Amino acid sequence: MKVVVVGADGQLGHALQQSLNVHDLSAYGKNAWDITDRELTRQKLETAMPDVVINAAAYTNVDQAESDTDSAYRVNADGPHNLALATDALNIPLVHISTDYVFDGTQTEPYHEYDRPNPRSIYGKSKLAGEERVRTTAKRHFIIRTAWLYHTVGRNFPNTICALAHTSPVRVVNDQFGSPTYAPHLANGIGQLLQTCAYGTYHLAGSGGTSWFDFTKELFAQLQIRTPITPVSTKEFPRPAPRPASAILTSLQNPCILLPPWKQGVSEFALHYSSSSQKTSMGYHDVSKRAT
Ligand SMILES: NC(=O)c1ccc[n+]([C@@H]2O[C@H](COP(=O)([O-])OP(=O)(O)OC[C@H]3O[C@@H](n4cnc5c(N)ncnc54)[C@H](OP(=O)(O)O)[C@@H]3O)[C@@H](O)[C@H]2O)c1
Repeated sequence: MKVVVVGADGQLGHALQQSLNVHDLSAYGKNAWDITDRELTRQKLETAMPDVVINAAAYTNVDQAESDTDSAYRVNADGPHNLALATDALNIPLVHISTDYVFDGTQTEPYHEYDRPNPRSIYGKSKLAGEERVRTTAKRHFIIRTAWLYHTVGRNFPNTICALAHTSPVRVVNDQFGSPTYAPHLANGIGQLLQTCAYGTYHLAGSGGTSWFDFTKELFAQLQIRTPITPVSTKEFPRPAPRPASAILTSLQNPCILLPPWKQGVSEFALHYSSSSQKTSMGYHDVSKRAT
């Protein structure tokens, strides 16, 4: 199978390059393939002619999106639309990644694929717009919603909180709940879905749910970090973008692809963290920009 990954320099892009078991994978970062350029996207696809395209590109800075609305929509809505137009014209399946932020987080039960989206942030609204454009433009599409994505490589909550813990006690919210997802587990789940032609919308996230506070406790336990953690409420930790209070993802789809329990993701992250953290000084991690 010949696979093209766009947005390949991000967390999921890295995981796909490491974990996706295909013999022919071409990975393009933003400089090589900017998905907001419609003509370039058409040309690149006509040249590559893959069996499937995976869109791992996104504008993921949730807080910055509140004041940089145009950029968020350009990347998260226009970009997927360009990919959907180009793939559909060539009858190539498109895998597009979306987010738990399409939900408002007011539901106490986990969200499944048929629950009604109601995003509250610009990021969530732009991602929902991207979903809708893919759904209505590309006949052969997989839309995969995931959540709380992290990897040893990249800007994410675990890398940020572990770096902070070296210098001071940490405060972590304990009233937001979600599904931490280790990026290599998501990459494997995408690989399983690619073996099918069961196009549609899927929730693929670490099984089970937890709070940021309990997620941090598990991380620190696995990494033997003894820094004190203080639970705080969302109100005590104001951010520009509203977060879904409770957006644990579950699936009612057939095929039902279950990712490993979120604690297993933490174990695997911890196994690889020490060696990858040595790369920090070489610029692999930029933990200064955001924590989620
Ligand atoms: N991170 C999470 O917690 C989370 C949770 C739920 C869902 N998701 C979704 O999962 C997917 C993968 O997320 P991730 O965490 O791997 O994101 P990421 O690490 O931020 O990677 C996204 C990549 O897309 C690139 N990009 C931005 N604009 C682009 C453009 N116009 N053309 C091509 N590439 C562009 C970024 O480059 P620059 O960095 O240079 O801009 C970055 O390398 C996204 O769809 C995201 O919305 C993420």
